[in-house]
Amino acid sequence: MMTVLVTGGMGYIGSHTCLRLLEAGYGVVSVDNLCNSSPLCLERVQAITGKTLRSYIGDVRDETLLRRIFTENDIQCVIHFAGLKAVGESVSKPWAYYDNNLNSTLSLTKVMGEVGVKRIIFSSSATVYTAGNPMPLKEDSQTGGCTNPYGWTKYMTEQILSDIAYADPAWSVTLLRYFNPIGAHESGQIGEDPQGIPNNLMPFITQVAIGRRDRLRIFGNDYPTPDGTCIRDYIHVMDLAQGHVAAVRYTMDNTGTEVFNLGTGRGSSVLEMVNAFMSATGVDIPYEIVGRRPGDIAVCYADPGKSQRVLGWTAQRTLTDMCRDSWNWQQKNPMGFGR
Ligand code: NAD
Ligand code: WQD
Repeated sequence: MMTVLVTGGMGYIGSHTCLRLLEAGYGVVSVDNLCNSSPLCLERVQAITGKTLRSYIGDVRDETLLRRIFTENDIQCVIHFAGLKAVGESVSKPWAYYDNNLNSTLSLTKVMGEVGVKRIIFSSSATVYTAGNPMPLKEDSQTGGCTNPYGWTKYMTEQILSDIAYADPAWSVTLLRYFNPIGAHESGQIGEDPQGIPNNLMPFITQVAIGRRDRLRIFGNDYPTPDGTCIRDYIHVMDLAQGHVAAVRYTMDNTGTEVFNLGTGRGSSVLEMVNAFMSATGVDIPYEIVGRRPGDIAVCYADPGKSQRVLGWTAQRTLTDMCRDSWNWQQKNPMGFGR
């Protein structure tokens, strides 16, 4: 059985990916320092799949721990999710973001090189694309000019990993640029569990629906879009998880660096999302229009053609599925994992 090391395996996308990897027959080892997660989630992944995985609690910057993990397990490929991801927080705490996101990658790839495991899949983001690109975004659209430290850590990590693969042709580096992941596993047992006031749209909507927030604030309705609100490419987290299974196969069969968009290719406005949620769930979402949020761009969606052609992957789930599954998770877990 082939075994994959998943860093950040207890996080939102990591836990759904662990689940799909187990279902697809892979051995899974997770390492997570619990800075934004609960150990409950991988217990639930094992209960859902009826399969076991090995979980280490610790930091990816800890090279001693990494050496132990690679010694104790026969790992062939790594998926590197671990990192900090709050855009606004990265502006006020740049050092923490550069330290966590860059040093985790440097420690990880250093130890991977030592033990001869040279296959890595990295969680990048649509945020690496320069504002002002024509839509849809293709993998060779312009990158850089990021507007916050979080985005720069993704940009820099892409560069670091590409340089490592260039220097040693035995490496296989797959950079996955996610668009806007939402939704949850259909069981409602695992899902996104933000701490404090959610930064992202869907967790905010579900917290309004469950009564934890009084109303949604929509950041601007004066954008150059049909209804004036921003357009994004929302993708179901289980489709994203399946994209990682496809990426593992690709990364095992190839060397060098390749980059893929993981999006649906369809854009939806904030108002369309609110309406889709209300019709999928029957729950009213009170909202008010407030000023624009600094750093938001009007429109962002993927051209997923390369992922379809090369990885053989396309997103299958609809906006209705995404809304229904986000709400199912929120209803079954009104306070998330209760951290
Ligand atoms: P998440 O915060 O739920 O998961 C990240 C996990 O990594 C958490 O469980 C956290 O405890 C762990 N972690 C953080 N730093 C660590 C460290 N130094 N050592 C060990 N564990 C550590 O976030 P997510 O939404 O699942 O995102 C996963 C990855 O995908 C991140 O790299 C994120 O930047 C990237 N990404 C996310 C989105 C999104 O919208 N959710 C979009 C694009 C890219
Ligand atoms: C979506 C739309 C908001 C909340 C972010 C990161 C990006 C990536 C995904 C990691 C925007 C509007 C939101 C609210 C609102 N993450 N909104 N009221 O900004 O596209 O992307 O998450 O890599 O890097 O920047 O996603 O969910 O924050 O916002 O009106 O309370 O919803 O203005 O138009 P975004 P989001």
